[in-house]
Amino acid sequence: MILSPSMLSADFSILGEQVEEAERAGAQWLHIDVMDGIFVPNISFGACVYKCIREKSKLFFDVHLMITKPERYIEDFISAGADMITFHVEATEDVQKCIDLIHSKGKKAGVALNPETPVHAVVPYADKADMLLVMSVHPGYGGQKYIEEVNPKISELRRLCGEDFLIEVDGGIKQSNIKAVVDCGANVIVAGSAVFNDDITGSVKGLLGAL
Ligand code: DX5
Ligand code: ZN
Repeated sequence: MILSPSMLSADFSILGEQVEEAERAGAQWLHIDVMDGIFVPNISFGACVYKCIREKSKLFFDVHLMITKPERYIEDFISAGADMITFHVEATEDVQKCIDLIHSKGKKAGVALNPETPVHAVVPYADKADMLLVMSVHPGYGGQKYIEEVNPKISELRRLCGEDFLIEVDGGIKQSNIKAVVDCGANVIVAGSAVFNDDITGSVKGLLGAL
């Protein structure tokens, strides 16, 4: 299982230090939530923010674009240091074009789906993308409650995609429910408030040890 702490819940006044602490504690990825105020009702930050920490961090930069028409900005986000770009199936009219654009720059491509979106919306891309991301909250904010109804979607995608495919689950995951989410079939776990709203080292170790 890969843990991808979401820096949305970090203290941005000491962002570099907090990301370093998560890395030292054993996180392998960093989840970077970009929001445009249109696809979701909130605005977070743009590429220039994580570009500042790119040189300081060896973490795999897992960029989650919650923006309309992601094809407009994919190249900018790759230039800023993304290792993987995940965009929403609901946000573009041409999913394949976005995947191809990301791959043409030598980066990994992920496709995300909202809690209400059925799995069949992403199944056609399962053998084209490198990862599928199941949202377990309504995107836009950290610190929300996990929506249990997405569990059958995770299991279904695991069954369809095989045991090694990357399936990330994002939203509402804490020490108390991480094992249940992994048992459904997730192998990449995003945790924002459960990492950064508390002792970061203890939280990362606690999440990794809760399986
Ligand atoms: C929500 C974001 C999530 C968020 C998760 O729209 O995509 O990545 O940061 O935060 P927690 O883990 O607090 O639910
Ligand atoms: Zn996210």
